[in-house]
Amino acid sequence: MAESVRVLLTEEEVDKRIKELGEAISRDYQGETVHLVCVLKGGVFFMCELAKRITIPVTMDFMSASSYGSSTKSSGVVKIVKDLDEPLKDRHVIVVEDIVDSGRTLSYLLKMLGDRGPASIKLCTLLDKPERRVTDVKVDYTGFEIPDEFVVGYGLDYDQRYRNLPYIGVVEFN
Ligand code: IMP
Ligand code: MG
Repeated sequence: MAESVRVLLTEEEVDKRIKELGEAISRDYQGETVHLVCVLKGGVFFMCELAKRITIPVTMDFMSASSYGSSTKSSGVVKIVKDLDEPLKDRHVIVVEDIVDSGRTLSYLLKMLGDRGPASIKLCTLLDKPERRVTDVKVDYTGFEIPDEFVVGYGLDYDQRYRNLPYIGVVEFN
């Protein structure tokens, strides 16, 4: 089956929005240091771009959780594949994700990380599919709300491919 990718959000639109999010975070946390926690692998492209747009001091850490096999549906099972290197105690944490879909991964992660005693913890996601939510998750910063379609690019994959696209697209099977 042949695949093609239809552009949903262009590189320019995504970059512009990330710049706005960086400005908002810099304003909201003025006088503080923000600790960005990237959820690998999907969040990494977004986090790098976002970090470059934040003008207050930034520190970063990375973790990896898996709720997906190679299918396009969340299993609901969250496994910590790689934990953070540093403690979160007394830090202003922002968890940076590529997409909130069912919300299962994030509700689990936010609870787990929140138990480590951060000064505050917020969630920043590039994409949100609100129609798909099955668990309540409070999203503090959202790049774009998108319809219920399977998207790739800017870190998001289909079977590990397409993460490197500089835009967000929808995979179509022709
Ligand atoms: P959730 O637990 O259902 O919210 O799923 C979160 C994870 O599923 C995300 O971090 C992505 O890795 C993956 N995911 C959800 N929707 C998509 C999509 O449209 N494209 C690619 N990955 C997705
Ligand atoms: Mg992810």
